[in-house]
Amino acid sequence: MASDLVRLARELPKAELHLHIEGTLEPELMFQLARRNGVKLPYESVDEVRRAYVFSNLQSFLDIYYAGCGVLLREQDFYDLTWAYLERASADGVRHAEIFFDPQTHTDRGVAFETVITGIHRAVHDARDRLNITSGLILCFLRHLSGDAAMHTLSEALPYAEWLIGVGLDSSEVGNPPRKFRDVYARARDVGLLPVAHAGEEGPPEYISDALDVLQVKRIDHGVRCLEDARLVGRLVEEQVPLTVCPLSNVKLRVFPDLKQHNLKRMLDRGLLVTVNSDDPAYFGGYVGENFSQTAQALMLNAGDLTRLARNSFQAAFLPQDQKQKYLHEITSVAGQSSVKTIS
Ligand code: ADE
Ligand code: ZN
Repeated sequence: MASDLVRLARELPKAELHLHIEGTLEPELMFQLARRNGVKLPYESVDEVRRAYVFSNLQSFLDIYYAGCGVLLREQDFYDLTWAYLERASADGVRHAEIFFDPQTHTDRGVAFETVITGIHRAVHDARDRLNITSGLILCFLRHLSGDAAMHTLSEALPYAEWLIGVGLDSSEVGNPPRKFRDVYARARDVGLLPVAHAGEEGPPEYISDALDVLQVKRIDHGVRCLEDARLVGRLVEEQVPLTVCPLSNVKLRVFPDLKQHNLKRMLDRGLLVTVNSDDPAYFGGYVGENFSQTAQALMLNAGDLTRLARNSFQAAFLPQDQKQKYLHEITSVAGQSSVKTIS
């Protein structure tokens, strides 16, 4: 039974909506790129890197994550990073990925915006034909930096606007409320970019309301702290605001002490439009298939829950309605052929 659920988790067509491309840098590729670019790493081996991935909170992770990005220098590096992710995602049943990237992490080290985006875009383009996976790119502003710095980054991105679907907000949440980025989000919306933002990961429920009211976001990334505010939950259910939840990330960053105590099942049962995603899979111990299957086992999700999560991922995706319908039909067909009983 458990292995049937794991197989269903992998085979269900899925959209991944919360994935930082820099967070897919596996230690093996980190060493390969360090050698290729003559960068000295503060680790002797891949095992030593993996042993360093013990985090006490979001900031303790971000410090290591930004340091790891130091090996990404050339267009080919961004291509290789993105291609490796898309290969893994495709093997996990991901048919559509909406990928975050953090340009400021690179431009602040002297890497040109163009280098970053052309490498990522080229891999995304190749994967559409060769891996049968479509992607959209979401440019994230680093919230520990200023609103003016975000505005400068947006202006650098405008020549590439056709390669982007949206803008997001990530990095250190507490103390950096959404309203700090009011102006840059207004500008991004004006040029047709779809707004999303991390909120309610470590930050309070008010950051979720602020992201909706001030930034006018279409999705909330994480949002797990919404359950602390019953009125907010009522609103999120009523408006069917998608929440891109990342269970393994939440455990690694100590938002929940272990997977059994994660609130995903309660969110689903409350009628929230929840999706399951991998966030920074190279750092958190699993890609989206693992997030589905480990969460299913820990929270005793059934096939109906998994199918609903897969359906939610396409409902929440920035895809045209006809493409969503095509994937929803495929899900119905895969779930129907599964030997695991689907109760939904
Ligand atoms: N950047 C990469 N992963 C992140 C996360 N989980 N929260 C905020 N910023 C991030
Ligand atoms: Zn994230």
